[in-house]
Amino acid sequence: MSEIVLRADGLAKTFRLGFLRKRIEAVREATFDVQRGEIFGYLGPNGSGKTTTLKMLMGLVFPTRGRAEVLGRPVPNREAKRRLGYLPESPYFYEYLAPEEFLDLVGALCDVPRAIRRERAAKLIARVGLEQARGRPLRKFSKGMLQRIGIAQALMGDPELVVLDEPMTGLDPLGRKEIRDLMLELRREGRTVVYSTHILPDVEMTCDRVAMIFAGRIRSVGPLAELLTARLLSTEVCLSPGAGTLPPLPAGATTRQSPDGLLVDLPEGTDVDACLRAVLAGGCHVLSVTPRRESLEDLFLRQAAEKGAA
Ligand SMILES: Nc1ncnc2c1ncn2[C@@H]1O[C@H](COP(=O)(O)OP(=O)(O)O)[C@@H](O)[C@H]1O
Ligand SMILES: [Mg+2]
Repeated sequence: MSEIVLRADGLAKTFRLGFLRKRIEAVREATFDVQRGEIFGYLGPNGSGKTTTLKMLMGLVFPTRGRAEVLGRPVPNREAKRRLGYLPESPYFYEYLAPEEFLDLVGALCDVPRAIRRERAAKLIARVGLEQARGRPLRKFSKGMLQRIGIAQALMGDPELVVLDEPMTGLDPLGRKEIRDLMLELRREGRTVVYSTHILPDVEMTCDRVAMIFAGRIRSVGPLAELLTARLLSTEVCLSPGAGTLPPLPAGATTRQSPDGLLVDLPEGTDVDACLRAVLAGGCHVLSVTPRRESLEDLFLRQAAEKGAA
């Protein structure tokens, strides 16, 4: 049986701003469940309401409507809080502390016994790749280094549930890969990871399931493979004209040169067999044929377009 460790049930938050009490509907409707042991991606463009939703789940922002539940208990709950780790979007650091001192302080705040704090801090520092920065005050850290110590800090209490708000922000591609690997490792250890992001490829590489939010409203929740339509978008044929001549191409086909050869993109519905026969009959060589299915990027654009049309 799967166990639900995080639940957003019709969560909504309206902020009131300024003298005129202007209404800002940061989150209109967020409903989703996270199951134990999965990596769950919370995906949406900037300003779509991700941080506000996570803050409501962490008990840091009081919802206007709806219910939040963490580890089987309504938010806020002290016992649940003890069993989770959280990386806020803009964490606050005590800048004069070195990473090992900072983690020791965080450990003390989460009631980690003194005897194991030091060893755990050292392990986490190595795990997030900050060993060479030991002894250096946090105010001398780069954005990427602060992001890493922020992630280490979220793990200091040995949490079963880890909630990370934009953990990839400020990291270069190598750093992002390291954090992706870390998340997969956390899952192997049986922990549940929830993270928000607007970076699509990271999600494709790590998440079991995702929720997508646009303008404060969740548009879809589910395993990535189910959200992406299995539909063929187009077929890409790479060919080398050699001494042959290229036959007339079907309507809607586009071509471009690549270092490998001429890339012909055949739209959905084209008779690919007939097209390949014509190309071969013209004396050209076919180097490769690649079906292209919907990617997360395509899905994102499709959902944004549907939202725009609505
Ligand atoms: N404390 C606040 N007061 C007023 N508006 C806010 C506050 N926090 C967030 N917002 C607004 O709510 C919307 C969603 O913000 P946020 O949850 O930070 O989105 P995301 O994390 O997806 O970028 C934005 O329009 C933002 O300006
Ligand atoms: Mg945010």
